[in-house]
Amino acid sequence: MVGYFGANLDGAKPLNYDDYLKVPQLINLQECKSTPAHHDEMLFIIIHQTYELWFRLILHECDSAVEAMAKDNVVLAEKQLGRVVEIKRILVQQIHILETMLPSDFLAFRDHLKPASGFQSAQFREVEIVCGLKDERILTAFDDQPEALARLKKRLSSTTLADSFYNLLSRNNFNVSPPPERSQTELWQSWQEKTAKELVRLYLAPSEYYEFYRLAERLIEIDEYTNLWRYHHVRMVERMIGSKIGTGGSDGVAYLQRTLGYKFFPELWLIRSYLT
Ligand code: HEM
Repeated sequence: MVGYFGANLDGAKPLNYDDYLKVPQLINLQECKSTPAHHDEMLFIIIHQTYELWFRLILHECDSAVEAMAKDNVVLAEKQLGRVVEIKRILVQQIHILETMLPSDFLAFRDHLKPASGFQSAQFREVEIVCGLKDERILTAFDDQPEALARLKKRLSSTTLADSFYNLLSRNNFNVSPPPERSQTELWQSWQEKTAKELVRLYLAPSEYYEFYRLAERLIEIDEYTNLWRYHHVRMVERMIGSKIGTGGSDGVAYLQRTLGYKFFPELWLIRSYLT
């Protein structure tokens, strides 16, 4: 029973905002490595932590969408993926907050981060994997993090959004199958062509297959916003460090530039070329 000012009449302390959200713990998780702490290191830490929280929610929604598709609950899957798209939109915007930092300010504390790098974000890799980008080579970056390594290995053998989507379509009279391993280049390419050609009818008669069409559009949007994030990240990195090598040891901008062509659902982009 709740009394005056929300106090419980039975004497128990009512739940408050801080207790529920663990705000005191949350705002004590920003430990600057520079001494004295550089003013902008707080921004640098908070922005990365915020990304990690959003990645956590993206994984939560993607897992739910995979499950929903397996149960033929297309409406729920589309709803969860719509949320992922909106989060991804925000993730692109967040990059620009970092651009308020001068390159010289970043350089003032950058050495303290070495050899840590965004390259070691396990959740970023988990998101890539659940979206279909399975590449075992990323595991080497996690050799010293057994928990993250175990999670990534589990992800690599789990059902992806693409697997669920094509299984769902195949149960609904589309002649499609889940994607093969990307390392089997020829098979992977012919799968993309065959799938794209089959899905032309989805795009020529969207009202007939409206729910599947909407799902396909959410998937391509996830791909598009991830690509936009990669683009804005690499441009921000170039503004910040030019052609210096990354704290993770890669050739920095040149490496990131090579990731710009990555696609989670290349077959969905290909459909557009086959539409007449
Ligand atoms: C001043 C800010 C930043 C700089 C200078 C920077 C720089 C870099 C560089 C040079 C790399 C290549 C790997 C390496 O050698 O370290 C990289 C990778 C990466 N960074 Fe950043 N970064 C910044 C902010 C961020 C933020 C805010 C995030 C958000 C999570 C992030 C996430 C990543 C990820 C996930 C990768 C791996 C990308 C891939 O392999 O496809 N970075 N970053």
